[in-house]
This record gives sequence, structure tokens and C-alpha cells, in this order.
Amino acid sequence: MNKNWWKEGVVYQIYPRSFKDSNGDGIGDLRGIIEKLDYLKNLGVNIIWLCPVYKSPNDDNGYDISDYRDIMDEFGTKEDFNELLKEMHSRDIKLIMDLVVNHTSDEHKWFVESKKSKDNQYRDYYIWRDGKDGNPPNNWGSFFSGSAWKYDETSDQYYLHLFSTKQPDLNWENEKVRKEVYDMMKFWLDQGIDGFRMDVINLISKVPGLPDGDKGEDDLYGNGFPFTANGPRVHEYLQEMNKKVLSKYDIMTVGETPGVTPEIGKLYVDNDRNELNMVFQFEMMEIDSGEEGKWDIVPWRLTTFKNIMYKWYTGLKEKGWNSLFLNNHDQPRMVSRFGNDKKYRVESAKMLATFLHTWQGTPYIYQGEEIGMTNVEFKNIEDYRDIEIINMFKEKSEQGIDKDVLMKAIYAKGRDNARTPIQWDSSNNAGFTSGEPWIAVNPNYKEINVEKALEDKNSIFYYYQKLIKLRKENEIIVYGDLELIDRENESIFAYARNYNDEKLIVILNFYGENTKFKFHEDFQDKKVNLLISNYEVEDNNINDIILRPYEARVYKINSK
Ligand code: NOJ
Repeated sequence: MNKNWWKEGVVYQIYPRSFKDSNGDGIGDLRGIIEKLDYLKNLGVNIIWLCPVYKSPNDDNGYDISDYRDIMDEFGTKEDFNELLKEMHSRDIKLIMDLVVNHTSDEHKWFVESKKSKDNQYRDYYIWRDGKDGNPPNNWGSFFSGSAWKYDETSDQYYLHLFSTKQPDLNWENEKVRKEVYDMMKFWLDQGIDGFRMDVINLISKVPGLPDGDKGEDDLYGNGFPFTANGPRVHEYLQEMNKKVLSKYDIMTVGETPGVTPEIGKLYVDNDRNELNMVFQFEMMEIDSGEEGKWDIVPWRLTTFKNIMYKWYTGLKEKGWNSLFLNNHDQPRMVSRFGNDKKYRVESAKMLATFLHTWQGTPYIYQGEEIGMTNVEFKNIEDYRDIEIINMFKEKSEQGIDKDVLMKAIYAKGRDNARTPIQWDSSNNAGFTSGEPWIAVNPNYKEINVEKALEDKNSIFYYYQKLIKLRKENEIIVYGDLELIDRENESIFAYARNYNDEKLIVILNFYGENTKFKFHEDFQDKKVNLLISNYEVEDNNINDIILRPYEARVYKINSK
């Protein structure tokens, strides 16, 4: 297997708006990040993925970009950015920027021009179509509720927006659009950044003809996803991008790719195909979604969890590489979703981290995860800021769905769960800002915060620090093969890692009760070393272990 820095690294994702405010306007900013670089260095991460910091009217918090080459006013200036990059590099931390090129903001100059008339030179930068008998060109719904089309009076046509009305989709069929994107990528790479996380990159090629999608009887809109995800020219575009831009730099790329299976994922990350290094798969993020999708919440099973992870491991192991994450800025907090954020918050956060840092792939830590931040339950819908939540609540309440039911769904799945400010200390607003935060702080900040974590040697923070160090010191954790143990077990996730003649065994209790685990006979008379555990472990006797609630252990098996 090829060795690469991005396989060996650990990524920390920053959502700048909620990270640290340095100037009291209630919004996190670049200087706030600079202030905290030593904290991140101390944690041990060596790659930062920065969510979009470009100019934006913030309809979708920076995922609606009005100028790709400039910095958002609220976040600072170009000088601040240069300083951030310099300060990161001087600490041996690499910078991965977000690349959002499925769509721009409707305030981007290309769209402003495009909208002016049918013969404007930018018209064809976007996807414009005639309506059908006073209706949109097709029945697709947008990810953020409502139709995926917006009518424009000036030219009596509609434009496509898979996300909000302020995020018109770019027309990748137009060679000029592709060239603009590649030039912009070079603009940033030439300043020394180390790669890109590519926003919904598998949506850039739409099926020609834009056919209607399936629509159930109760559905307001048809499902356009099969005609927008993994479209007919997506690999051609990415190979072109690779040839013209990516291949010229030593960088890391990770594509956000909803609706991708390992078979499809492989097409994006197979070394020989020259597209991307990694993708984010969403099969795991859909583990608790019912037939109606994200807001229809169903219980998940550990065996499904294992099967998804293992299938992705086997699917990519020859030629590709996995990215490992259990939360990000679009997902609920992992300890609330997959662990227990009450009685066993600390134990379960550490257990989940043990999984992320000992499975094969590159781990991504989402800001605040390292101190076990949890979901939030705001009382009123007015306290929420996310466009997806707000539009969904409006559309579904108009359909007559009970508000309590909707609030419950938001508590479990809403994106704002991950977007409350980082809890730095127990002072006002958790030390995030001296002003009024753009979104309220999670009320549990007095108990859960960085200051406290740094004072407690048993904190989740120090456990992460140890996991990251172990990974750096043991190639087996990065490159070792994987083998599932006791796959059908619904409480315990156990697996072995093998590399040359070394072996590790990872045992994770995903259950809030004591649970028995029996080692395979082959190991029972072997000498073992415990590398890490989230509990005190008295001895190295591995026969019939009783794992405590959410206990995690990683053993090194000695060959003799
Ligand atoms: C995925 C991003 O992660 C999300 O935050 C955003 O709303 C959509 N793409 C649209 O850009």
C-alpha cells in the first residue's frame, strides 16, 4: 500500500462561525482561530479543514459564496488569512480549504450577470430552463424544502438550485465554468494551502433532459437525486480537474459524496483513476433514517454499523482510502447520537473516539468533539439559525405535522446541534465571544468546556491526545489490515489489525451495561499489552473479560 501524509494525519474540522470570536461581534473569525492554534497543536492534530471562509451573504453560512477569492467580512481580511496559514505551517499543521463549486451565491457576480438577460455572456454559467405550463421545468424538490427551481421574471425562465434559492447550481457542462473553477483552485493552492474538501462534488453533473423524479402520493416534490448524484460526466470532470490542477501539487482531497456506495466510492478514490484521495460516505449518517429520510428517525443497530464500516473497508482497501467521521457541521453530535450524552458521556465519547482512531482510514475530529460536546435542545424554533431546519419546520407545519414532533426531530438531527459555539470556559457565553453570539451557547457549558478538560487528566481531551499519539507511533494503526471479530455481536464491536507480524485487538462496548467478551482461543495464551483504555484496567488477563458500560480497550498481542 502507498504511504501518504494524508493517510497518517489526523484532521480537525473548524466551522469558523462557531469556533472563536476575537472581536466581540458574536461571530467566530480567523484571528480567533489563530489564538487557538496552540490548543490544537497540543491536541496533536496536523491537518485543519476549514469550512468556507470566502465572501458570502450567509444564507447557508458560507456555503453560498459570492466571491471565491476574498474573505468573508465577518471572518476577517486577506491579511488575517495569510497570517493564519503562516502560523499553521510554522506549527506543522496543514490547511485544507472547502471548495464549494456545485453552486455559488445568487450574489456572485456571475449570477448577477447571468440573470440580466438570456444573451448575457454568463447566462450559460447556470442551469436555466423554460417552465412547463406555468410550473417549474421539472418536479424536483430542493434539499432545503420547496421546489429546486426558482422563477425569474426578467427572462421568464427558471434556474436550478438544489439547495437554497440563494444557491444557484453552476452549469459544469460549460467549459468556461470549469476553467474558472480550476483557476480559482490554483489561486489558493499557489498561496500554499494543502488541499480541498469538496462540497457535494458528486452532484456537479446532471442527467441531460433533467427528467422528473419519482414522487409518492404524499410527497410535495419528486426525487431529483438519481438525476443529480454521480451523474454521467462527473468522473470526466474530476479527471480533468486532477490533470489540470490537483496533480500539480502535493495535496490532499476529500469529496463530500452523498448517496455513494463503496462500489461507486471506489470510482472516485481508486489511485489509478486520478480523481480524489478520499470521499465522505453517508451510509453511516443514514443509519438512523427511516423511509421518509433524515427527519424520520429510527433506531440503529450495531451490526448495521459494523457492516457499513467493514463493507467500506473491503471496498476501498486495495486501491483507495477511507475517511472516518461520526459527526460534522451538518450532523448531530456523535456522543448524543451513538453514545450516551448523560450518565456515560465521558466514557462513550472516549469509546467512539477509540473506534475512529483505530479503524483503517483518516480520522476527522469535528470541533468540540474532543471535549465531548453534546446536542442542544432550544425551546423555540426562533432560536434556530439553520436554513434547513427553518425551511423544513415551515413546510412541514404548513402540512399540518405536529410542532412537538418536528422539534423532537430537530433535537435529534438538526444541523444546529453541531453549530453552537465552542465551549472554551465557564465564563459568559462559554468564553466564545464578549458580545452576543450569533446562535446561543449550549446551556451545559459550565460543565463541559475546554478549560475544565485541560485541568482534568482523565478528560476526553487527553484521551484524544493519547489516541493521536498512539497513531503516530504505531504504523499498524494506520496501515494494518482489518479483521472483524464476533461480527454478529449486537453490543460489542471487536476487530483485529494486522501488520507485518504485529497484531492489535480493539474491543468496544457500545452498550450501557456490563457485557462479557470472550477472546478467541488463539489469543488466550498470548501475552498482551494494553495500549489504551477509557477505564482503569487491573490486569492483563484476557480470558472472559467483563467490559463496563462503553468500555474500550486496545491490546497489542505479542507474538510469543
Ligand atoms: C454540504 C455542506 O456540508 C452543507 O453545510 C451545505 O449546506 C451544503 N453542502 C450545500 O453547500
